Amino acid sequence: MSELKKDQYWMQQAIELAKRGLYSTKPNPNVGCVIVKDDQLIGEGFHPKAGQPHAEVFALRQAAEQAQGATAYVTLEPCAHYGRTPPCAEALVKAQVKKVVVACPDPNPLVAGKGVQILKNAGIEVEVGICEDLAEKLNQGFLKAMSTGMPYVRLKVASSLDGRTAMASGESKWITGAVARQDVQHWRAISGAVITGIDTVIADDCQLNVRSLDSVDIETIAQPKRIILDRQGRLPLAAKILENPETVMVMGPYRQELADLGVIQLEIQPLKVLLQTLSKQYQIYDVLVEAGATLSTAFLQEGLVDELISYIAPTLLGKSARAMFNAEFEYMAQQLRFTLLDVTQLDQDIRLRLIPTQEKV
Ligand SMILES: NC(=O)c1ccc[n+]([C@@H]2O[C@H](COP(=O)([O-])OP(=O)(O)OC[C@H]3O[C@@H](n4cnc5c(N)ncnc54)[C@H](OP(=O)(O)O)[C@@H]3O)[C@@H](O)[C@H]2O)c1
Repeated sequence: MSELKKDQYWMQQAIELAKRGLYSTKPNPNVGCVIVKDDQLIGEGFHPKAGQPHAEVFALRQAAEQAQGATAYVTLEPCAHYGRTPPCAEALVKAQVKKVVVACPDPNPLVAGKGVQILKNAGIEVEVGICEDLAEKLNQGFLKAMSTGMPYVRLKVASSLDGRTAMASGESKWITGAVARQDVQHWRAISGAVITGIDTVIADDCQLNVRSLDSVDIETIAQPKRIILDRQGRLPLAAKILENPETVMVMGPYRQELADLGVIQLEIQPLKVLLQTLSKQYQIYDVLVEAGATLSTAFLQEGLVDELISYIAPTLLGKSARAMFNAEFEYMAQQLRFTLLDVTQLDQDIRLRLIPTQEKV
């Protein structure tokens, strides 16, 4: 096997390890590490949760003195700063590894190249960029937020074949089947927050929390915040979403009764500014928008959506049912076009993942 193939093989092992923290590390990134000597795995680790040791620390502990002269594969540049744990770059130096292979540079201004520099200054051979595309997918929100100050925004819509998302009355349960609805739980669970509009809360009395995940103990995950955009203060105090008020945030006029419940209240602000606030003040780096057409259209028209997750059910709801997108376009030149990332069949439904196409058509 060539050196490059070997590096790719071991980095893929590190990426698989990182995935074990997918639902629990937020706001920290998912990171995996393997340490290899003479083509043998001698240490492995992943970052499980904020406040717990980083992936490299677990892997170095396992490798112990064998780490000397070994190669460490890390999915994200080792940290260079004292946080709740000491810098991993220094731990790798202390362990006297010979080489460090990194998948993604860390754009976090506290790290950004400094981790690699510490290693190089100590005479360690460093290679950056092995399996970078795969490793980036582990931390789309973290990487975007660290480099732009904005979270990664996914917009989820479940619609009929004729593009309808609810009946005229607001009734919408259920358009898609159980397998597609279970899939939504994954996207909620990787998100720091789920954002919805007040009219969805009033129509559906939804909770928008994570209730079940395939083969994952729900107690181990970091539940997303549920954020309701309610500029007129219409949220009923009896709403089911307030049964767990500690994970609810409301953007709207100040209400003492919500403060008494412990709900975080946000000033009314434009959507773009809200997203910046979530990233900078609340370390929310992945956002899932699950709203009706009004708010979904606003996010799309303001160019704030990074990815559209569209579930389509094989059913027709008719012309009086609500459309998924409310924009009043007249010309083809106004259309919002997307590029298809992938298509997945979920029992009788399909899921499309799309990203907005940058060029104007
Ligand atoms: N099929 C699906 O995927 C899906 C998902 C969710 C909901 N739904 C259905 O959608 C229906 C509700 O849709 P909807 O369009 O009436 O409500 P919505 O989009 O959930 O909420 C709209 C409300 O959000 C508030 N809002 C706050 N900030 C806003 C901003 N910057 N831009 C736009 N709105 C803002 C507005 O109320 P204020 O002006 O009072 O602030 C607005 O009226 C329900 O029937 C529900 O079942 C379907």
